[in-house]
Amino acid sequence: MKHNKVVPYSSEEQDKKTQVTSMFDKIAPYYDILNRTLTLGIDQRWRKKAIDSLGSKKFTKVLDIATGTADMPVMMNKRLDVDHITGLDISPGMVELGVKKIEKYKLEDKVSLEVGDSENLRFESNHFQAATASFGVRNFANLQKGLDEIYRVLDNDGKLMILEFSKPTIFPFKQLFNVYFKYILPTIGRLTSKDPKAYKYLYESVQAFPDYEDMADIIRKSGFKNVKYTPLTLGICTIYNGEK
Ligand SMILES: C[S@@+](CC[C@H](N)C(=O)[O-])C[C@H]1O[C@@H](n2cnc3c(N)ncnc32)[C@H](O)[C@@H]1O
Repeated sequence: MKHNKVVPYSSEEQDKKTQVTSMFDKIAPYYDILNRTLTLGIDQRWRKKAIDSLGSKKFTKVLDIATGTADMPVMMNKRLDVDHITGLDISPGMVELGVKKIEKYKLEDKVSLEVGDSENLRFESNHFQAATASFGVRNFANLQKGLDEIYRVLDNDGKLMILEFSKPTIFPFKQLFNVYFKYILPTIGRLTSKDPKAYKYLYESVQAFPDYEDMADIIRKSGFKNVKYTPLTLGICTIYNGEK
């Protein structure tokens, strides 16, 4: 099935964007704890590597797309030489928790969060020196449009970093991971988040989503150059880098 047809609740009445927004609003209170538990904390290591892939250059303005509860801005503050980070997410529930996290870490001067749609950014063209998206682009209703918009708001030579799930390919890890991802993870997710569909959607959306060279090609189609990818933890997820 084409990836943009994979939706959380499969109701005919609502489009993918509406369904994704209401799913993340619903699971927001459980999101952080489930992330840490279901990945055994490895997600933090993935984030570090992903942020470090942007290099040691100084950035004035960075945009974190699909910022969720603001884990990426908090970590970027520690690992990047950056003046200001804007985090944007379509789910008001996720942003609300992100704002609390930014206050907790006293980062209000350095990080601002807002509700917005990655496929229709309010920013002027050539505005940011880097743009990042971790575990976000898989949820876009129109992936190419979202990438086109990121390209537009990046400065010339601006850097792109996308961290996204991919499908492991190596036997027998592929088979073992699949059992965990398809059966065990959705069960824990269902019991904890009280949304029976959300973690089933996670599995299904990853299966339908392009990875490795297919994803790199889609990124290139939006105009990015020097696109490369780095699989992490035997391909559970992959860092994609590119430049405008
Ligand atoms: C799996 S979460 C990732 C959150 C965060 N980046 C992280 O690493 O934990 C995916 C996020 O993408 C957001 N999202 C999905 N479609 C979006 C869109 N079109 N524009 C902005 N955010 C979007 C969701 O609301 C959700 O918070």
